[in-house]
Amino acid sequence: MTDLAAALTDAMKAIFRQLDLDAGHAGVRRSDRPDLGEFQANGALAVAKQAGRKPQEIAADISAAWRDLALADAPTIAGAGFLNFRVTDAALSARADTIARDPLCGASPVAAARKVLVDYGGPNVAKGMHVGHLRASIIGESLKRVFRFRGDQVWGDAHFGDWGFQMGLMISALEDELNGFADGEALSRRLKALTLDDLEEIYPAASARAKEDEAFRDRARKATAALQAGQEPHRTIWAAMRVVSMDAQKRDFASLGVTFDLWRGEADADPFIADMVQDLRDKNLLEPDQGAQIVRVAEEGDKRELPPLLVISSEGSAMYGTTDLATIVQRESEIDPDLYLYVVDQRQGDHFEQVFRAAARAGYVARDQVEHIGFGTMNGPDGKPFKTRAGGVLKLHDLIGQAEERARARLREADIGADFSADEFEDVAHKVAIAALKFADLVNFRGTSYVFDLDRFMSFEGKTGPYLLYAAVRIKSILRKADEQGAEPGAIRVSTPDERGLALALDGFSAACMQAYDKRAPHFISEHAYDLAQAFSAFYANCPVLGEADPAVRASRLALAAAALKQLEAALDLLGIAAPQRM
Ligand code: ARG
Repeated sequence: MTDLAAALTDAMKAIFRQLDLDAGHAGVRRSDRPDLGEFQANGALAVAKQAGRKPQEIAADISAAWRDLALADAPTIAGAGFLNFRVTDAALSARADTIARDPLCGASPVAAARKVLVDYGGPNVAKGMHVGHLRASIIGESLKRVFRFRGDQVWGDAHFGDWGFQMGLMISALEDELNGFADGEALSRRLKALTLDDLEEIYPAASARAKEDEAFRDRARKATAALQAGQEPHRTIWAAMRVVSMDAQKRDFASLGVTFDLWRGEADADPFIADMVQDLRDKNLLEPDQGAQIVRVAEEGDKRELPPLLVISSEGSAMYGTTDLATIVQRESEIDPDLYLYVVDQRQGDHFEQVFRAAARAGYVARDQVEHIGFGTMNGPDGKPFKTRAGGVLKLHDLIGQAEERARARLREADIGADFSADEFEDVAHKVAIAALKFADLVNFRGTSYVFDLDRFMSFEGKTGPYLLYAAVRIKSILRKADEQGAEPGAIRVSTPDERGLALALDGFSAACMQAYDKRAPHFISEHAYDLAQAFSAFYANCPVLGEADPAVRASRLALAAAALKQLEAALDLLGIAAPQRM
């Protein structure tokens, strides 16, 4: 059984067949009117027309024919012929017991495991990570975990931006700074001393200069082509810059709890480009266009014209789309994924459509094997993509610092951690900060833009990361106390409304995981984590655990609490959030 709704659906199907009704309409799902019933079905209405009968009559037949009394009481009929179900205490208890013991906490694995490549993060060498990369990192990390949790074999790849025009800009700027590259020693001294701060100064200046200074822009373009052709000292400079930014980015990723299986970049696809270009030419897909080489991707029926994919620029360099296409060739030869997910800002939609169509035309992948998982922007109070007060882009590192600062203040206000060591206090503040940032992002459907509001993200009340951490920590403390008192969890036997409510919440995890997986949308997990925490709160307020006199009830409640913690931590982990031991 995947969950109670599936079990009820199976029972309904048997009855539909017995009554000669179309079993395709036998579906039972969670009710959106829990006051009327926990589960509901509207199949009687769906089949009425076909059967030429009144829905209420059919509903009455179904209810009269209901046999699976161990699972649920016979459904009651409401309104035009809706069926409402209440599962039995026994069935609900058994389901909760299964969840408590299940390594997947009640979620069901995929039917057939696939190889899935998640391309996310995508920081650029020399530019430092900014808030735009925050969303890619947070959402990509979560999707990677959801797919892996359900049993797929998953590779996360950072796909660093390290092969484009920005590299040529940096190289030309350095060339000017050193009055040319003739003095090899001066160059190697400069490269040894290179820091991320240097890069972050050099890049914007060079980028601004290129906009005004045509000669500089041309040199930078040529430098990009020279780098890609493997010339020196371009290659050495590139390598030095790459190391400096990658080290800093790895630190930022680590502090976000983001890890990759592949720390590759655009440049890693370079060895595949020459053969790929030849292949595109052999397949008659490459066309000359104003000195450049392109692949046309417009299709009949397109609502607007999609420009061609630029494969080789007029300077002879590989472009953003070229490396993406060659990376598909590389991944096909090294991993052969069944599915590719590109977790990237939805404003890059056209780019991915171009790359995917070109890849499909060339026969590298099927069009439905590659998906752009777009997301909206994190906005400032003005509703525009978030900027610092000075109008610049906020560095990821500074953003995390700000969140930690706010978390420390919040903890002190709530009188949390006065008895912690300095290390533990810092660890808790860090976890609260990351939980606040990640949950605020993942609580929205990824396509929705949201407003950056640290105060709201950091609240201990409402749908926030800190609230969920607090809920998890509270259960941990109950279980610790139980342990100290020697109280043991036992078989789960639910009966009171709040015990039932908690067990029903636990049962909802499976559907949340499936939806998050199918829609590539972690917010289903966020919603579930919040529902579960709320259900636990109601349970704990109304059902004494350690204070309960009946040992069987106490043992059952302890087991329920333990199952709730295990599942809550699993859900948080799918969001990339870790809870501290105490706070
Ligand atoms: N480096 C790109 C950027 O900052 C994102 C890379 C996304 N991944 C990809 N395969 N193109 O916009």
